[in-house]
Amino acid sequence: MPRNVAVVAGATGLTGRYLLEVLLEDAFYDHIVTLVRRPLERFERKLEQRMVDYENLRASDLEGATHLFSCLGTTMKKAGSRAAFRRVDYDYPLMFARLGQEAGARRLMHISSVGADPAAGSFYLKVKGELERDLETVDFEATHIFRPAVLLGRRDEERHGEEWAARLSRAFEWLMAGGLSKYRPMPAGTLAAALAAAGERGAPGRHVHFYNQIFRLAGG
Ligand SMILES: NC(=O)c1ccc[n+]([C@@H]2O[C@H](COP(=O)([O-])OP(=O)(O)OC[C@H]3O[C@@H](n4cnc5c(N)ncnc54)[C@H](OP(=O)(O)O)[C@@H]3O)[C@@H](O)[C@H]2O)c1
Repeated sequence: MPRNVAVVAGATGLTGRYLLEVLLEDAFYDHIVTLVRRPLERFERKLEQRMVDYENLRASDLEGATHLFSCLGTTMKKAGSRAAFRRVDYDYPLMFARLGQEAGARRLMHISSVGADPAAGSFYLKVKGELERDLETVDFEATHIFRPAVLLGRRDEERHGEEWAARLSRAFEWLMAGGLSKYRPMPAGTLAAALAAAGERGAPGRHVHFYNQIFRLAGG
């Protein structure tokens, strides 16, 4: 019977792919389940890919979960409307957390965004903030929320807006000291390492992690 079962939502994404590498290498996690709409072409002893439709996610899809990793997300451009964006960036992760809790998961590691705030003027940050707020209604032994700025890494698809944001924030990174350090870009691989570490040894209770804490978690 596996002891630590990681269930990953968004395993095919930028951070999700890095996370999968970390989890597969980490002996702490006995079994890794990905909830995907298109399976990754990889076959490993520890890996189980479950094909799901997030519109009809069920607790049985998360059966056995002890650790939940929430890396889902889309862009306004891909989603096509605010309602569709909200479905992926709010409804799906909230349902994932609720069903995971029902399935017996003890820990949730969730990627949000720097600036997340239910009162934000930006629709993206408002949705992220509302989700963080509503995740408080789901009870876990530990909830770790990650608020990165721009993520760096290799993508299969082109995202010009994000590429420009990454270039700009790298160019001005030296200005982002002290309280502004939370706006620094970071490698998605670093975030992935921090997510896995929080699942393994993060403190119980609710925690929100920014740039510095994410690097500390990833490095320790
Ligand atoms: N990228 C950044 O610079 C950045 C910065 C701050 C915060 N964040 C946040 O961090 C999180 C992860 O970002 P990321 O860039 O690593 O993610 P990403 O590359 O955009 O990947 C998103 C994941 O969500 C899945 N997904 C999207 N729409 C879906 C749908 N309708 N049904 C099922 N699955 C769906 C994708 O699956 P498919 O592969 O099947 O499409 C993919 O696995 C997101 O919440 C994002 O908002 C990102």
